[in-house]
Amino acid sequence: MSRLAVVCGGSRGIGKAVSRLLSERGCRLAVVSRNEDAARATVATLHGSDHVALSCDISKEQEVQKTFEIIQRTCGNISYLVNAAGINRDSLLLRTKPEDMVALLHTNLLGCMLTCRAALRSMLQTKEAAIVNIGSVVGLKGNAGQCVYSASKAGLEGFTRSLAKEVASRNIRVNLLAPGFIHTDMTAGLREKDGAHSIPLGRFGTPEEAAQAVLFLLESPYITGQVLVVDGGLQLAM
Ligand code: NAI
Repeated sequence: MSRLAVVCGGSRGIGKAVSRLLSERGCRLAVVSRNEDAARATVATLHGSDHVALSCDISKEQEVQKTFEIIQRTCGNISYLVNAAGINRDSLLLRTKPEDMVALLHTNLLGCMLTCRAALRSMLQTKEAAIVNIGSVVGLKGNAGQCVYSASKAGLEGFTRSLAKEVASRNIRVNLLAPGFIHTDMTAGLREKDGAHSIPLGRFGTPEEAAQAVLFLLESPYITGQVLVVDGGLQLAM
């Protein structure tokens, strides 16, 4: 039987590339997005059939509960969870509105906690499961203009390592991917030629390259509680 993979933020960017790659690997996908039409459109591009599209705002506890109940009821137990939903609201701290701080923390940090919590109930029924959360190199190194975003991503590191310890005895692994600049809608406002000089490999990454690293973490049976940086060497220069 094929593994069930839930990809939050799976209709666009890195999440979409992860959904595609996992479908090529024979997984059944539950693509979760704030926008159900977008999730459906992604599902239509996946390899194989039997995938499902669901709309959910991961920052809202009741929506998350309901969504994962539907997944459990209609698709069965979850083998993989990838948390690729996230937002950025870049500005210097003095100019950051409190409502933007709340939105960043609710989506990037609380949202991930809620989806992990909801998925674990299902994962405990399986004999082997894995979670990949998506942080950022700026969560590890910090960046001017991204205080709250980087705090939300740094929070994911502690969360991921702690959860990995909590659930290891149940053979559930939890890892964090920390990308640098990846070509997606999130970075569409950045000009590669302005940023690429600080990247040793000299270019932004592609969503497919980030997805490859997610797949590696999902499929590596002896890796848990780790942070994998996928940044073309950017961190070395930060
Ligand atoms: P994206 O903007 O292309 O996609 C983000 C997805 O998350 C979208 O589908 C969006 O609808 C969804 N989303 C946002 N808020 C949501 C909510 N409350 N509930 C449900 N879904 C929600 O972004 P991208 O680039 O694919 O980013 C994926 C993850 O990777 C994010 O967590 C981002 O912070 C992180 N990341 C991205 C980098 C990049 O250079 N693109 C670098 C480092 C980290």
